[in-house]
Amino acid sequence: MKQMPASKAYRLLEAGPIVLVTTAQDGRPNVMTMGFHMVVQHDPPLIGCVIGPWDHSHAALRATGECVIAIPTVDLARKVVDIGNCSGTEVDKFAKFRLTLKPAKEVGAPLIAECLANIECRVADTTLADRYNLFVLQAVRIWTDPERKERRTLHHNGDGTFTVDGRTIDLKERMVLWKQFQD
Ligand SMILES: Cc1cc2nc3c(=O)[nH]c(=O)nc-3n(C[C@H](O)[C@H](O)[C@H](O)COP(=O)(O)O)c2cc1C
Repeated sequence: MKQMPASKAYRLLEAGPIVLVTTAQDGRPNVMTMGFHMVVQHDPPLIGCVIGPWDHSHAALRATGECVIAIPTVDLARKVVDIGNCSGTEVDKFAKFRLTLKPAKEVGAPLIAECLANIECRVADTTLADRYNLFVLQAVRIWTDPERKERRTLHHNGDGTFTVDGRTIDLKERMVLWKQFQD
């Protein structure tokens, strides 16, 4: 085995899929790209997200306590990268990237119609937000698009390259201790 710098651990671990996070502050919607997220708990469903103060979305999330995590597929790859390379302080990203907003049910942030799924979230815990920019969100409602043909998500390798979803293998029969998570 060869060594690599410990600071590059994220390149091996960065969770996929890459997602878009929408917020809405003072009636103005915005969207950013996010790779640093993880599932924290099943019930209630909690998700940890790193959203830095360099993002306009950080202030919007703190102010409103709400966002939507939207899951894009490979056909949106270039837009996903471009959305993460400009700021809502300067651009109306929904207009620029021709994304269709849809109203969410529980939160003020919009859903993105072009995405495979949208998770409406409320901030559940900001204890680690000052130290690590880590917001713990609770999923409150999920929308999925069963009609969508393209379903392959993107997984960021941390360096501007992405792995596209491939084959799914079914090992459910071996999940003997975790049957409750199989439907
Ligand atoms: C592939 C990719 C992944 C990113 N992941 C994150 C992330 O996990 N957390 C974060 O704070 N910013 C992340 N960014 C940067 C934000 O998306 C970027 O700063 C964005 O322009 C912020 O938009 P806003 O200022 O409109 O909120 C990522 C950008 C790209 C291109």
